[in-house]
Amino acid sequence: MPVDRERWSPPTPPPRQEPRRVPGALGGSLLWDQPEHAPDRARLLAFVGGEAPLALEIGFDHGVTLLAHARAFPDWRWLGCELRKRRVQAVAPHAPDNCLPLRADARTLLAALLPPGRLARVDILFPTPTEDPRRLLLSPALVLDLGRAMAQGGVVHLETDVPAMAALVADLFRGWAPAPAPPTVPDLSRRQRVARRDGLPTWSLSYARP
Ligand SMILES: C[S@@+](CC[C@H](N)C(=O)[O-])C[C@H]1O[C@@H](n2cnc3c(N)ncnc32)[C@H](O)[C@@H]1O
Repeated sequence: MPVDRERWSPPTPPPRQEPRRVPGALGGSLLWDQPEHAPDRARLLAFVGGEAPLALEIGFDHGVTLLAHARAFPDWRWLGCELRKRRVQAVAPHAPDNCLPLRADARTLLAALLPPGRLARVDILFPTPTEDPRRLLLSPALVLDLGRAMAQGGVVHLETDVPAMAALVADLFRGWAPAPAPPTVPDLSRRQRVARRDGLPTWSLSYARP
């Protein structure tokens, strides 16, 4: 059933038992310990190694902004994560060398897979206003994990058309410094396009890691 964006309020996230064993979609962090996922893990670690600044787009969906950013900023590496397999399969063949679209749960990636202090930028465009606590992306645990995986001064950029999501973001990132929105591209994500077409109010929020 579609969620009423005006009335949505965030569910209470489940407590985390053990930070390295992150529950989540796709088997959580345990999945990445399975031998059949060793090649994906090795590809990820090779991609995030090196000196180039690294950006992550969470929930890239059709990949419009991920691919456009990778083409517009070739000196950066653009990692994308998305839960939906078909979206990842559709985007991957179009990715330039500085872009890796990965099928992964962002919560697992941030908590257990990325090296600490590596990310210079994270974009989260129109996170899903779910009513299921197990599927909630934005939570105190995610902000802690962003703090671990991001470099000092790295910027998280979020956009939403859900009033309570904007309030949740402002609350979760209250210990971070408000920052200018990072440079972007004219290409719009699907939700950015819908919001613009329908004249919906949107919030654009950026914070620098303290
Ligand atoms: C509402 S859509 C927005 C898609 C796109 N960012 C846009 O602006 O049009 C949210 C996307 O995030 C993905 N997603 C939700 N939770 C996720 C998670 N934990 N890790 C990675 N992707 C996730 C969903 O599959 C979906 O494609």
